[in-house]
Amino acid sequence: MMIRVDQLIRAVATALDIIESELFGVRTNHGKRVAVLCAAMGRRLGMSESAVAALTTCALFHDSALTEYMLYLTEQSGKAGLYLHCIYGQRNVDLLPLPDNAEGLVLYHHERADGAGAFGRGEGEFPVGAALIAAADTLDVHFPLQNMSGKYLEKLRAHVASEAGKAFTRDAVEAALDVLDGDMLEQLRDEHILETAEKLIPPWFAGMEDAAVYRLAALAARIIDYKSVFTKQHSMQIANRAWLMAGYCNYTPEGRAQLYLAAALHDLGKLATPLHILEKPGALTGAEFEIIKNHARGTHDLLGTVGGLEDVCRWASEHHEKLDGKGYPFGRGADDLDYNSRLLCCLDIYQGVCEARPYHASRGHKETMEILMGMADKGLVDGDIARDMDRCMEGYAERPLPPPPQAAEAVDAALSGLPDPLPA
Ligand SMILES: [Fe+2]
Ligand SMILES: [Fe+2]
Ligand SMILES: [Fe+2]
Ligand SMILES: [Fe+2]
Repeated sequence: MMIRVDQLIRAVATALDIIESELFGVRTNHGKRVAVLCAAMGRRLGMSESAVAALTTCALFHDSALTEYMLYLTEQSGKAGLYLHCIYGQRNVDLLPLPDNAEGLVLYHHERADGAGAFGRGEGEFPVGAALIAAADTLDVHFPLQNMSGKYLEKLRAHVASEAGKAFTRDAVEAALDVLDGDMLEQLRDEHILETAEKLIPPWFAGMEDAAVYRLAALAARIIDYKSVFTKQHSMQIANRAWLMAGYCNYTPEGRAQLYLAAALHDLGKLATPLHILEKPGALTGAEFEIIKNHARGTHDLLGTVGGLEDVCRWASEHHEKLDGKGYPFGRGADDLDYNSRLLCCLDIYQGVCEARPYHASRGHKETMEILMGMADKGLVDGDIARDMDRCMEGYAERPLPPPPQAAEAVDAALSGLPDPLPA
């Protein structure tokens, strides 16, 4: 089955846009506006469609390392934070086998033509694509492009022109002046940006088992997990566990890849859940629990926009449904929930119980299984699946389960030789 990787990238980037506006006060849809501007500018400069596809992916993920690093680097790190999110953001996009060269596109997105940027490179010393991301990023930060009226167009254009050779490279200024007209302002508005992204970002198809999909799954899991220090392994471990179970059940390679993707993305909607609720020690109020419950619907709404992911979307968003029909977000019961949905529910409980949380310490396999079997006895989760997990997971509550080989190289590259910013 072919899936629309570009749409999947946009779904993950939408979740990133939401977390960035929560944590850093960045405007809504920031990544998408930067990507759309880059697509238009790149074409004006004669880039090929594959180059535009690589550029827009980098634009969508230009600040993808912010969840990972800014969260744990306090203000005192100052400029170091700026370097780090460029370095690690580049490493994130390098995990994806992009359709064209993306060298330096994220790494140099905070350079300036006059050499006063993050790494002190001047005009001509960093790639044109990086200069486009830098210009689009700066414009979206300094002008309210999400709802800007046409009467400010001349002011915006004058600003762009005045920065030639200073903040922006001459290429970027030429391209920006070419594309910034009344029509573009209209298309950048919050109410049109999704449609504009669909229109201007090149479609990118891949098979479910392709490296691009495995690696994107691993990258997304990593971004989701870094939302909170308490879940820094959660999605990644559930994905690895799901892959192991799919092997145990003799799934086809495609079925195995699908389940891996669903598991990696099951908590995608959690990027929109406020951190103070996610990390609250002690009992949640009714209202807070309602907000927590929204994350499963969020996963459903985000993945529902991706062509070719219908089953993956259903399994991922049903991970809190219970056999008695009292789960959320849909209240579906035993008749509706298929094997993969039931399995993801069991794996989510297993992982949640065995990992340390603000409200409980980590537990070993035996204790975790007792809790899961207790829920099976109450008719909440599938007892047969729980028993299969008991056989497969032994020993893997106490130490991490390795990723599937298709994702391992990317995960290793992401982890190797880099300082771990998380507090011990
Ligand atoms: Fe940035
Ligand atoms: Fe940005
Ligand atoms: Fe969840
Ligand atoms: Fe989860």
